Amino acid sequence: MTPTPTPGSALFRSPPPHTLVAPSILSADFGRLADDCIAVVESGADLLHVDVMDGHFVPNLSLGPAVCAAIRRHLPDVVIDVHLMVSRPSKYLEPFARAGADHLTVHCEVEDSAASLAESIRALGCSPGLAMNPDTPVDAILSDIEAFDLALIMSVHPGFSGQAFIPEVLSKAVDLRARFGDELRIEIDGGVSPVTAPACREAGCDILVSGSSVFGSKDRAADITAIRGG
Ligand code: DX5
Ligand code: ZN
Repeated sequence: MTPTPTPGSALFRSPPPHTLVAPSILSADFGRLADDCIAVVESGADLLHVDVMDGHFVPNLSLGPAVCAAIRRHLPDVVIDVHLMVSRPSKYLEPFARAGADHLTVHCEVEDSAASLAESIRALGCSPGLAMNPDTPVDAILSDIEAFDLALIMSVHPGFSGQAFIPEVLSKAVDLRARFGDELRIEIDGGVSPVTAPACREAGCDILVSGSSVFGSKDRAADITAIRGG
């Protein structure tokens, strides 16, 4: 059966008209999660980034499909970008797709086959992404990346928000943009702020994830605009 793509998955399939800003809800007030998500969308966020951690792939636990489903209930039209920092992503693709995800990113460092993960994600109607940790060389994803819509470059060691941006990873974005042109979405995640965003855009990143900088801002609309570059 041909899967029906979610409306939001289309965002990842072609070059966006401008840099997209994706606040990471890991930095939201979990006690007021829906209100905080609505507030960043009303402040100009293009999509919401949902960080899923299993306490095994990374040394932290975060949230599961029920939280994703709650965001979907409160924000029926928002594009939900799920970042699976888990050792066995194959177990969680369908639960997150059912919970309303539009996009699912898995890590290249896990044992599950990247090619079959991409196929499963598409079969669920979502757009697939492949992430790499700061110490993982870009070569590690080259043989698989054409099965995906997006490469996610981690610019901090995954597990926690509020860490310092690692500028050395930007050369991976330059390399991927030179190899794949506009065909590939390049997302960068970790330590992105109005200060570090210009270098990310210049390196070719078109989706900028920002957690603590956006949710902790006194003027979220201004900071989202600054991260986007206007
Ligand atoms: C880190 C997560 C990031 C993080 C971003 O493991 O993948 O999405 O929450 O937060 P900041 O922008 O605060 O580094
Ligand atoms: Zn993330």
